Amino acid sequence: MQRTHHCNELRKNDIGKQATLTGWVHARRDHGGVIFIDLRDREGVTQIVFNPEKHAAVAEQARALRSEFVISVTGEVVARLAGTENKNLGTGDVELAVSALTILNASETPPFPLDDDAVNEDLRLEYRYLDLRRPKMAKNLRVRHDAAKAIRDYLDEHRFLEIETPILFKSTPEGAREFLVPSRQNPRKFYALSQSPQQYKQLLMVSGVERYYQMAKCFRDEDLRADRQPEFTQVDLEMSFIEREDIYRLIEGLIARVWKKVLNHDVQLPLPRITFKEALNDYGIDKPDRRFDMKLVDLSETFKDSQFKVFRGVLDSGGVVKAINAKGLAIITTGQIEELTELAKAQGAKGLAWIKVENGQWKSPIVKFFSDAEKAALTTKLNIEEGDLILFGADAWLAACEVLGQIRLKAAEMLEKAGKLKRKEIFDFHWVVDFPLLSYDKESQRFVSTHHPFTSPVPEDIPKLDSDPHAVRGQHYDLVLNGTELGGGSIRIHQAEVQQKLFTELLKIPADIAESRFGYMIKAFKYGAPPHGGIALGFDRLVAILTNSPSIRDVVAFPKNNKGIDLMSQAPGDVEPKQLRDLYIQIRE
Ligand code: AMO
Ligand code: AMP
Repeated sequence: MQRTHHCNELRKNDIGKQATLTGWVHARRDHGGVIFIDLRDREGVTQIVFNPEKHAAVAEQARALRSEFVISVTGEVVARLAGTENKNLGTGDVELAVSALTILNASETPPFPLDDDAVNEDLRLEYRYLDLRRPKMAKNLRVRHDAAKAIRDYLDEHRFLEIETPILFKSTPEGAREFLVPSRQNPRKFYALSQSPQQYKQLLMVSGVERYYQMAKCFRDEDLRADRQPEFTQVDLEMSFIEREDIYRLIEGLIARVWKKVLNHDVQLPLPRITFKEALNDYGIDKPDRRFDMKLVDLSETFKDSQFKVFRGVLDSGGVVKAINAKGLAIITTGQIEELTELAKAQGAKGLAWIKVENGQWKSPIVKFFSDAEKAALTTKLNIEEGDLILFGADAWLAACEVLGQIRLKAAEMLEKAGKLKRKEIFDFHWVVDFPLLSYDKESQRFVSTHHPFTSPVPEDIPKLDSDPHAVRGQHYDLVLNGTELGGGSIRIHQAEVQQKLFTELLKIPADIAESRFGYMIKAFKYGAPPHGGIALGFDRLVAILTNSPSIRDVVAFPKNNKGIDLMSQAPGDVEPKQLRDLYIQIRE
């Protein structure tokens, strides 16, 4: 080794020893000829001192040192002058009086200071290798490692085998948009990058593996945001001969282990469970952020005989009227109300009725239609007070809930910015259960699997598969933390006939397509497939919450930006015409 200690190692009891340190020049201060440098390596920082009165030649040499130069220094560990100790630093009682300096490499002036948190993210991504030198980012990488280690240890103790599955897979419908890879050896054919190891892990259960896991790289060509990357990592697992309760227990133990190991935080077990219906009804979303209230209140009863045509019409046709009270948001501007209305409309709402309570008055385009009894009922049910903003959704149950769910989150953001709302500082883990097996996809105008088409129906609902398929619940579960979907999974269908029926009769996938895309799964199920189920946790999201990072980009070493571009390498990029010819591909302008 080129050093005797790392930069977070020297302490008072090392005083008098000779030591050699290596690292980067983090900060430099000149005090009348004496040069102080904070030397940084991945473990921490040690102050080193060049004193011209003691080692004149070395001090002269040190004048060339600039930020991010890589150096090796040897000297004596000495006590800092009384009163100059740094209590915030592990090495803060001592410094190294340098007697020999080697410059291992110079550095150009970094494009941004490494001790500043407010640097533009594009610049950080372009110089990611420098960004990762910042102590905060270095810590994120370490937490990611610690969490992965805790997960691997835990699953190993529970007799899981870590097995890799192919990334070059084939295109399957019924999932996210895929990345395609042309096959040179099979002209005009394409692989798809694996969206998740779902099918392979189920086939491993047919193989008799019983307990599989993998830190799996997954690829999805989705619109990107703070919690979505085109390639991301799942803690993916599958088990045979189990029921939902076994998965809950296993994952709860895993979560408790990770939070204990990484944050020394005790997660209270068992984790609470709420149903899909409760989540939608109260929070308007299947991954509720319960760190603040602002629950959805049902007002259908209140308005059942209303003179306000919009509400009455919706109620008469079997819909609901719901509202939230954004306490304190009467400060909202007209422009912001417009913004909320646009958000509601983007979710498919016809409008967003509202009431502002200011100076004891209800200001609203609709209260003129309300009777005194309706106003009184509203006041009680929504606990209306001075300064409140009430927002209404009237529509079919699911649509009304979903619109207000998005409005609730946006209103919370606005209140937070105005300093009128503070989310509780807790880890609010909960399971969301009892999802419908099928949900209606407005875009393709047909029923699709709520989770994926391998999810088994809840046993007592199986008779309804023929009579009322849309009332059938799936054995699907999501793990939610602070409004983030941390993971999801299900007990699977393991009988070939049931799987076939789901594809062709319920999802209405044409038989030939079902055969060409999933035929091998159905075939495998005919050879003694054990009952099985599993789950995948979004590992990047988990680490982002552990490190209190606003985006998963902060916990991925080399992420893409929201346009899917790696700003450092500029991928994706152009290719040579010959490469395209070899792949039988022609670019359309
Ligand atoms: P699902 O599609 O719900 O399930 O994915 C599981 C978890 O992966 C995370 N995740 C993502 N993280 C970052 N970027 C993305 N683009 C992204 N997409 C998903 C989420 C999500 O909860 N095979 C099934 C699991 C199973 O049934 O066992 C699956 O992939 O945290
Ligand atoms: P209108 O009578 O269409 O002008 O609507 C009166 C008010 O009710 C406006 O503020 C609309 O935004 C709102 N509104 C209309 N339809 C709905 C609906 N389905 N849910 C909630 N508010 C609505």
